[in-house]
Amino acid sequence: MANFPSKVKIVEVGPRDGLQNENARIWTATKVELFDRLSACGLTTIEASSFVSPKWIPQLSDAEDVYTSITRKPGVSYPALVPNLQGLERALKVGVEEIAVFTAASETFNQRNINASIKESIERFEPVMSAASEAGVRVRGYVSCVLGCPYEGKVSVETVASVARDLLQLGCYEVSLGDTVGMGTPGAARSMLERVVKEVPMDQLGLHFHDTRGQALANLYACLEMGAHIIDSAVAGLGGCPYANGATGNVATEDVLYMLHGMGIETGVDLERLLEAGRFISAALNRAPASKLGRIGKL
Ligand code: HMG
Ligand code: MG
Repeated sequence: MANFPSKVKIVEVGPRDGLQNENARIWTATKVELFDRLSACGLTTIEASSFVSPKWIPQLSDAEDVYTSITRKPGVSYPALVPNLQGLERALKVGVEEIAVFTAASETFNQRNINASIKESIERFEPVMSAASEAGVRVRGYVSCVLGCPYEGKVSVETVASVARDLLQLGCYEVSLGDTVGMGTPGAARSMLERVVKEVPMDQLGLHFHDTRGQALANLYACLEMGAHIIDSAVAGLGGCPYANGATGNVATEDVLYMLHGMGIETGVDLERLLEAGRFISAALNRAPASKLGRIGKL
């Protein structure tokens, strides 16, 4: 029987996942303006940037500048990705209050993305978790390739469940399940979630679906039916991981909101304002919004 939630938390990942894959330089001021526009939409979590190696992700090498320039609204979290202790130290210096560590259910992807095996990555996170806890910083965890890997193809749900459990046991308050290159379909998404929820409670599970093959909304619907209620999405459908062959945008926040609101599910997010933020960043990137709603331009 369907168990739809009455409310969904949206984790807006556009400024991080959305922009990390862009090759052309985006000015820090543009990123800051995007933030300020997103903060005005009623979102409660907006992923800010990544304190990763600037050689690996040059686009986000201004993480410190972005962080110190945004107006942080009370009640809104601005997490940042951190791959190691060096990243945490950088984040703490600018007052980051929440971070996200990230690993994968695919060895090949993890090696290409963070130059570590899955086991090595978990070991690398241990001192990061201790230092974060000492500093009073909350930590979210990401598992990539939960519905397939661009290098290895099929990924075992057992591996997804075990990596998710490891992140929870490390002390992550929430684990986000990434369909990094949008390989999932609704049945696979449901089976994966059914297995993972045996290890991590639904209240602590986020869904982070890319829309590469146009399946993201359908996959989300299948998981919402099971009671999932935390969704990562990106304004204007921006996004992709430079270390995942063929990765394209995250599911667009505008389209997710349209579906949820139409189903009577609350998000607390103002869709009109979000559409405006999507128009702003798409114009800055000199392209049409990738969201379906943004293309029509109205509700
Ligand atoms: P490495 O080369 O093995 O690192 O990279 P290292 O420790 O050997 O250091 C090499 C150099 O990097 C050194 O500099 C370090 O100082 C520097 P050098 O001596 O050569 O001048 N370095 C750093 N500099 C600044 N900040 C740091 C940092 N760490 C090292 N934190 C590393 C390992 C993890 C650093 C690298 O692989 C990396 O930064 N990877 C990040 C890749 C990334 O950000 N990918 C995208 C995010 S994940 C994603 O998009 C998926 C997700 O959305 C979910 C989904 O969709 O599935 C989350
Ligand atoms: Mg992603």
